Amino acid sequence: MSSSFSSSSSSLPVALAICLALLFQGSRAQLSPSFYNTTCSNVSAIVLSVVRQAQTSDVRITASLTRLFFHDCFVQGCDGSVLLDSSSTIVSEKGAAPNANSLRGFNVVDNIKAAVERACPGVVSCADILALAAEASVRSSGGPSWSVLLGRRDSTTANMNAANNLPSPFDSLTGLQSKFSAVGLSNTDLVALSGAHTFGRAQCRTFSSRLYNFSSTGKPDPTLNPSYRATLQQNCPQGGAGSSNLNNLDPTTPNTFDRNYFTNLQGNRGLLQSDQELLSTSGAPTASIVNSFASSQTVFFQNFVRSMINMGNISPLTGSRGQIRSNCRKVNGS
Ligand code: HEM
Ligand SMILES: *[C@@H]1O[C@H](CO)[C@@H](O)[C@H](O)[C@H]1NC(C)=O
Ligand SMILES: *[C@@H]1O[C@H](CO)[C@@H](O)[C@H](O)[C@H]1NC(C)=O
Ligand SMILES: *[C@@H]1O[C@H](CO)[C@@H](O)[C@H](O)[C@H]1NC(C)=O
Repeated sequence: MSSSFSSSSSSLPVALAICLALLFQGSRAQLSPSFYNTTCSNVSAIVLSVVRQAQTSDVRITASLTRLFFHDCFVQGCDGSVLLDSSSTIVSEKGAAPNANSLRGFNVVDNIKAAVERACPGVVSCADILALAAEASVRSSGGPSWSVLLGRRDSTTANMNAANNLPSPFDSLTGLQSKFSAVGLSNTDLVALSGAHTFGRAQCRTFSSRLYNFSSTGKPDPTLNPSYRATLQQNCPQGGAGSSNLNNLDPTTPNTFDRNYFTNLQGNRGLLQSDQELLSTSGAPTASIVNSFASSQTVFFQNFVRSMINMGNISPLTGSRGQIRSNCRKVNGS
């Protein structure tokens, strides 16, 4: 007992160093899987049950919810900013080019939030609901399950410029790499997280440049399988008609979370340019990662879980920063 006091003077510099280290950790995550253990111990089950309910009438919803988490985390961190509607103080990220007429699932997030608020009012952030909904979605579509790190709080701001700068399907591989490394994510994270394109849909406008006149060559993208291209051309005619028509990101098993995204790439059946170039860019360091995930679903799943956790650690608001929104679409009191 007394020895802890007598030693305190000599450990003061150590304590100070630890405080400084914590201070300068800045955006480093302080999240925990047991964050709501005493305040909302059933939150994961509640989220899972609303996701499964939504899935019964909309098989695509699990993909849409998984994408929402990505578009949240890449824009000023995983802080629920993507969920805010426009108001006198907010310019909604929903209007940004990558999001407009594309992001979906907001009503289901509202339903999850309502169910969680009924069980534990004022406790669980919208940012954490997105993280939990992504896990529930992957798990409910045949993918891995994992213990989600929690404790994020919600932003009081949105960032339209950052939303417009999200990774684009027309970015070069080096462009994608620099957008991922800017938020602390590696080539392995880039490839593993791109594996989320194992489910969900993409509109013709996100890849039709590959079908007819790629990079002004007058020819289709040479890294696109010709018979797959012919199928896509039927749904996405030249000239822009049908530009919002939907196409399966994974033509092999469109609604299942599995390794087929990677085997598709090996057959030149990546739908987006940003997908195929992970394998087809000459000398790409991502190619061997694609091949390793194509050959083992276990390896893919392990890496996907790790990378979802890495992505979920991007600049969370913790402690007393931010707030717990009562409505995911609005800053409290506005
Ligand atoms: C590597 C950079 C990425 C690019 C360039 C990209 C681009 C796109 C595009 C263009 C679409 C189709 C949108 C539309 O047509 O409306 C899409 C859909 C989708 N993306 Fe990504 N994405 C990327 C990374 C990710 C990541 C990291 C995730 C999640 C971990 C993800 C999950 C999804 C899902 C699940 C869909 C289907 C959504 C639905 O059906 O509603 N993507 N992505
Ligand atoms: C939180 O709950 C989980 C599951 O019941 C348990 O495994 C874990 O030890 C708990 N953690 C804390 C810090 O209470
Ligand atoms: C937890 O939530 C699920 C889904 O809403 C529900 O079925 C279950 O009864 C809840 N468990 C407890 C202990 O409240
Ligand atoms: C392809 O696009 C370029 C630039 O937009 C244009 O100059 C060229 O004529 C097009 N080629 C064909 C075959 O349509």
